[in-house]
This record gives sequence, C-alpha cells and structure tokens, in this order.
Amino acid sequence: MDRNEPDFENRIVTSAFTAEEENLEPSLRPRTLDDREYIGQTKVKENLRVYIEAAKLRGEPLDHVLLYGPPGLGKTTLAGIIANELSANIRITSGPAIERAGDLAALLTNLGPNDILFIDEIHRIQKVVEEILYPAMEDYAIDVIIGKGPAARSIRLDLPRFTLIGATTRAGQISTPLRDRFGVVLKLELYSPEELAQIVKRSARILGIAIEEEGALEIARRSRGTPRIANRLLKRVRDFAQVGGKSVIDREIADYALRMLEIDMLGLDNVDRRMLETIMRFYDGGPVGLDTLAATIGEEAVTIEDVCEPYLMQIGFLSRTLRGRCVTRAAYEHLGIPLPDKPVQSGSLNGQIDLFEDNEEN
Ligand SMILES: Nc1ncnc2c1ncn2[C@@H]1O[C@H](COP(=O)(O)OP(=O)(O)O)[C@@H](O)[C@H]1O
Ligand SMILES: [Mg+2]
Repeated sequence: MDRNEPDFENRIVTSAFTAEEENLEPSLRPRTLDDREYIGQTKVKENLRVYIEAAKLRGEPLDHVLLYGPPGLGKTTLAGIIANELSANIRITSGPAIERAGDLAALLTNLGPNDILFIDEIHRIQKVVEEILYPAMEDYAIDVIIGKGPAARSIRLDLPRFTLIGATTRAGQISTPLRDRFGVVLKLELYSPEELAQIVKRSARILGIAIEEEGALEIARRSRGTPRIANRLLKRVRDFAQVGGKSVIDREIADYALRMLEIDMLGLDNVDRRMLETIMRFYDGGPVGLDTLAATIGEEAVTIEDVCEPYLMQIGFLSRTLRGRCVTRAAYEHLGIPLPDKPVQSGSLNGQIDLFEDNEEN
C-alpha cells in the first residue's frame, strides 16, 4: 500500500508510519471499542457505539463514516474496530492507490452485503474516481460504460449495501459532494497526557516491558498528543533502559532517553524548534505564509500542516491568521528567545484547528 504520508527522515516524533511498525503495530492496535483497548476519544466512541448497535438491531449496514484528524491518532485502528464490532469484512485501500475509475469499480462490485470498504487518505482520490463513489454511496449502484464511440452505452450495476469508511488528515480538502454523502463524520482529537500514559502502559504490557506510572507519564507528556508517537518513544526508551542495565522504565530513564533523542519537556523536536525559531528570527514572529515558511526551513508544506502545526496550535505556541502563521509569547518563553519590539499574541490554549476550515490562505 502506498504510504505517502509526509516523509521526514529520522524524525523521531514523526507520526508517519515506518517500516519497523508494520511488524509491530498489528499487535498494539486495539481490536475493540472497550475503554481499556481503544483509549480516549470518548465522544467518538459513544457515538459509534450507538450507530453500531442500531445498525446491528436493524440488520442494516452502518452509514458511511468519515474519520478525520492528524496522523497517528487512531483512524485506521478505528476502521478495523468498526469492522470487528460489526463482524463485517473489511477491504482496505487508499485514495492514491486507486489509479483508475475501473479499479474502484472492480473493488465495489466485489463487495459482499454489509462489507466495509476503507479508503485511507480519501482526500487524495482522483476526481474521475470520486465520481464513481457518488452513486455507489447514495444508491448502491455504479454506471459503467460499455463499448467505445457511437456504440458506447452506459449500464447501471447494482451493488450490495456496503459501508464506506474514509479517513483523512485533511477534511478541508474533501469536496463538498463527497463529504455530504457521509452520514457520520467524526473528528479525532489529540490525546491528553493521562490518556497517552494509559496507552503507553497498555503497549508496554503487550510488549512485555516493565514500566512505572511516572515513566509512562513522562513518555506521554512528550508524545505530542499522538498514540503512534507514544508507542514509538516507548520503544526507544526501552532501548536506552536495556543498554543502561535498567529492568524497569522509570521517570529518570525516560527523561534521560528523551533528552538524548532531543525531545524537550513538551515533546517538541528539532523540526518544531527550527520552525518556531525561523518565524521568530526571520519573520519577526510572523505572520508568514505556509509555503514561504516551508521553503525557509526545508520541509514540505504538508508536513508542517499535518504534523507540526496541530500540536503547536494545541499547546498555544502558534496561531493561524488570514495573513499567515504567527508564534505566540508562550513560544518565545519556551525557547528562551527575547520578545521582539512589537506586540505578540499571547496565544490561547487549545487553539484547535478545525480541519474543515483550513482551505487555505497561503
Ligand atoms: N485510542 C487508542 N488507544 C490505544 N492505542 C491507540 C489508539 N489510537 C491509536 N493507537 C495506536 O497508535 C497507532 C497508530 O494509530 P493509527 O490508527 O494507525 O493512526 P492513523 O490511522 O490515524 O494515522 C496504532 O497502531 C495503535 O497502536
Ligand atoms: Mg492510518
């Protein structure tokens, strides 16, 4: 499968998928909606439980579901859980993997009743392919053209009633007609340190790693609200513990390891710090446009938007204005850089972005 998520080598806090995790993640991936399995996302889980129960009672497929939120928050996991809870078959593909309309038509006509089709990165689906989805989602049918030229005719093929689950980091990039065809739209939020500590402890248990509460919390606080990062850091900390001859991960070894990995107390890494510092030093705290910023620090704009910004905004270090990105007073204080001679936004905690609104100013 094409994992064309933002690629930035060696970035330990990247929430993009790495090959190492292909082997590991299946075992760490929660399989049910149980609060001890799929931790956090209370609102999303509450809603899903109702919809799943109702679909089961009626013996009907679940309405189409759109999951959105930054990488590593549990979208793919949730798609698997929905299938599992419904005892339904799931077929997995991704927007960029579907090259031609015919590929999607083949996928759809091979579905069985109540099956689930999961399309990851659905915002990257091509227009011609997307148009096949409209009647498929709405009427459970597709129109195929047979023959060429004047002899060509269109026939309608009925599909079994199925559920489409789409996942995206970019709800704002999904066209309105497509978005409107999802009956259920769920936004995943960044996790709290307490939730992440639970996730770390759960993963440690599965991997057979001994960890103290304080050790788990230290990793959690520095995981930028993201389970995938928490799991990755847990494994790196385990390496340091093992080499250091420690049989249990406590706060001290976690802190030491994370320092060695240059992840600061708030979970910021070099890329985050470089981005903030660049805005401070070259653009006087902002505003600066996304593309300009990306070019200056040599990262891709999508990486900045999908991976760096959600967390920096969440902790109130960055704000998006119509004219570009601005850093806040809190960011200056955290990095120990003197404030410029002009007013700087004080920044609000939980400056959560609404991904539906991010159709862009740059
Ligand atoms: N709510 C959760 N509880 C426990 N672990 C989680 C949760 N959400 C995600 N994870 C872990 O994080 C990893 C990444 O999640 P994934 O579903 O692949 O994210 P996404 O598809 O949103 O990028 C999973 O393999 C799983 O181990
Ligand atoms: Mg995924």
